[in-house]
Amino acid sequence: MKKAAIIIPTYNEAGNIEKLILSIKDVIADIAQWNISVVVVDSTSKDKTAEIVQELAKKYKFVHLLSTKKEGLGKAYVHGFAYAIERLSPQVIFEMDADLSHDPKEIPHFLKKIENGADFVIGSRYTKGGSTAQDWGIHRKISSMMGNLVLRFGFMKLGIKDWTDGYRAIKTWIIQDSMSHIQNYSGYVFQIALLDSALKRHATITEIPVHFKERTYGSSKINAFEYIAQILFYILWHSSFIKFVVVGGCGFILDFAISFILIEKAHWDAWKATLISTESAIISNFIFNNFWSFAHKKVSGLGSYLKNFIKFNLVSSGSILIQTLGVAFFDHIFGTQYWYLYKVFIIFFIVIPYSYILYNKLIWKDK
Ligand code: GDD
Ligand code: MN
Repeated sequence: MKKAAIIIPTYNEAGNIEKLILSIKDVIADIAQWNISVVVVDSTSKDKTAEIVQELAKKYKFVHLLSTKKEGLGKAYVHGFAYAIERLSPQVIFEMDADLSHDPKEIPHFLKKIENGADFVIGSRYTKGGSTAQDWGIHRKISSMMGNLVLRFGFMKLGIKDWTDGYRAIKTWIIQDSMSHIQNYSGYVFQIALLDSALKRHATITEIPVHFKERTYGSSKINAFEYIAQILFYILWHSSFIKFVVVGGCGFILDFAISFILIEKAHWDAWKATLISTESAIISNFIFNNFWSFAHKKVSGLGSYLKNFIKFNLVSSGSILIQTLGVAFFDHIFGTQYWYLYKVFIIFFIVIPYSYILYNKLIWKDK
């Protein structure tokens, strides 16, 4: 029989945990093909959470208690993952909140997706059919929605709609391969680090709709301000797309600076200076994209390096052509005085998407 483990982190969930475990018990009793265990990772709760789970573990073989120090949600999950892998060797690991926000009745739907080939199933509030808590205040609704939008666009992975919810089923190999990365994120941002790592490992990711119910007992431990700051930092450090934009911006400055020096100071012909400066920017962009923006899929070996460098030059020539034609087009329609607006518009809405898509399709390929 296939095995799955549900990791449930708890901090002061005495009013929720028994009810949750008993309803999980009912759900898994009806799942014939999977042997499912529960690992509660309690970070020395001040209430009776650990005692309650301890009692349940005596009564039911599928329940396990792991007690850890209070080091944040991410660390609790990392300990829970390691414990489950070592003692239970599951093929699939679930994440689930202890406060009854996540309905155990969804467990079979997650498993169905796994059986159909998914590696990482997200319980999604933002996919069709899902929802956030009715009783969430407007602040929480907006910040959760904005956070997810920023993540979708920041990583340019528009297909994934819920990056943050903690109800998921994940194949164990992804967690094993991601362990060294997620260990660095002790707070709630760990959820994003794990999904990002799964994406970079080419996991097959799907979403199923879930209804997130706000807890009735106890209170949320999330610190919204800290969480948002962590998300923004995470995107800045880890998004290929943002790095690609930064590299492009630096290339633009380099291009401009070299042209300026050669034309103004060295009195070169403008066309010669432009040739040297654009090619210098292209070379620097290629190197920084290869070793930084797309480092997780970098090209190496002299042959493929040269081949891809030529492709990169072709794509870059394309963007020069697009800008030239675009500026000429707008100039023709609206007049020359707004040339800088045309240029900014073309760079943001045509050149950036064009280059990013072609780099991913032709040079730093996903598979
Ligand atoms: N062991 C342990 N240690 N558990 C913790 C800790 C900790 O330091 N902090 C929180 N938890 C547990 C809670 O007891 C609960 O079971 C679960 O983690 C989620 O915590 P909540 O405090 O209820 O968080 P939330 O409902 O605001 O957050 C939900 O949304 C976030 C963002 O969308 C969760 O689904 C998060 O996983 C999600 O990141
Ligand atoms: Mn909660």
